[in-house]
Amino acid sequence: MAISKKIEGFISQSSWIRKMFEDGIRLKKEYGAKNVFDFSLGNPNVGPPERFKELLVEVAREDVPGIHGYMPNAGLEDTRSAVAEYLCKEHSVNLSWEHIIMTCGAGGALNVALKTLLDPGDEVIIPTPFFVEYKFYVDNHGGVSKLVETNEDFSLDFDAMSSAITEKTKVILINSPNNPTGKVYNERSIQNLGSLLEKKSKEFGKEIYLISDEPYSTIVYDGIKVPSVFQAYKNSIIATSYSKSMSIPGERIGYLALNPDMADIEILTSGMILCNRIIGFVNAPAFMQRVIGKMQGITVDVETYKRKRDLLCEGLSFLGYQFEKPGGAFYLFPKTPIENDVEFVSCLQKKNILTVPGRGFGKSGHIRIAYCVDDSTIINAMEGFGDVMKKYR
Ligand SMILES: Cc1ncc(COP(=O)(O)O)c(C=O)c1O
Repeated sequence: MAISKKIEGFISQSSWIRKMFEDGIRLKKEYGAKNVFDFSLGNPNVGPPERFKELLVEVAREDVPGIHGYMPNAGLEDTRSAVAEYLCKEHSVNLSWEHIIMTCGAGGALNVALKTLLDPGDEVIIPTPFFVEYKFYVDNHGGVSKLVETNEDFSLDFDAMSSAITEKTKVILINSPNNPTGKVYNERSIQNLGSLLEKKSKEFGKEIYLISDEPYSTIVYDGIKVPSVFQAYKNSIIATSYSKSMSIPGERIGYLALNPDMADIEILTSGMILCNRIIGFVNAPAFMQRVIGKMQGITVDVETYKRKRDLLCEGLSFLGYQFEKPGGAFYLFPKTPIENDVEFVSCLQKKNILTVPGRGFGKSGHIRIAYCVDDSTIINAMEGFGDVMKKYR
């Protein structure tokens, strides 16, 4: 076998989204793209803000020597300062540019943080359902993922979290607004989590780190605001990107922000800067750093996603689907009327509707619907969603 046994196993584990992607290509060829309702990928279909397009041109015209050269591995000081200034306002903390490390997206940020923190065998606690890549990221750096169920409404289950934390726990990895559920943890949950981690750190006589993966933090509805982990727990790190907030996932730009009150902040920052380099990212894309440095606080049109969420929720609710209404991101995670989510997904596929089985995210009996698609895709898929639901009710 040319590839390692481990990667061979990973290929089969990660096959759900890949399978849907490949099936989508096949179906689109067979039936024409407009007759296939593809809800399988979280690839934003709302365009980037206008200012982004203007800045692409403005920044390209800037005549700065070395503009395309290597730079400090943590990124450009101006960009880091702009991000820090934005976060100071958002989180009411006293953060400086030195607490920011520019990264290749949120995926890059998470890998850098995990590589810096984990020794082989260290445990990372992940509430389920979870973003599919987490288990791979943790494994990349010798860690062990420990999955912890959430409550029925996908809020954090503190009893389950409390029993899962042991002397081996190094990191708690949360994601809110959540992919695949759209759940936004409320202020009280984040405060409770902070208190639990403080208690457990004391109990085990070690620092436990909270990594909050927040690429959807600006895509929230109904007046919801994502609570600040910095306010709740000192050993907290934000990993995020502009992939979804500015609809630019292909540009690979994001950052890590470290809570200024964190224990050992200097060594942690140095570790993360080194890891950004030695994982092979070297630094986040130079051009994008210049652009996003000038775009703090600007986000995609969230109202458009809200309209899609409402269209989907109203339609599916009418057809008898059961779900928690998402407070953010652009995913819906309804229950399937049968336990076998794969069978349900296959039935939807026969109606040219592509979704992903919940088991791909660590929770069977559900499907993930990514509603970052045209309104017409949502509207035209309703008949098929209805037919399949009727079959099982
Ligand atoms: C929860 C979550 N975290 C991280 C990522 C990776 O984001 P990026 O493309 O910025 O690396 C995604 C992408 O879909 C995501 O949904």
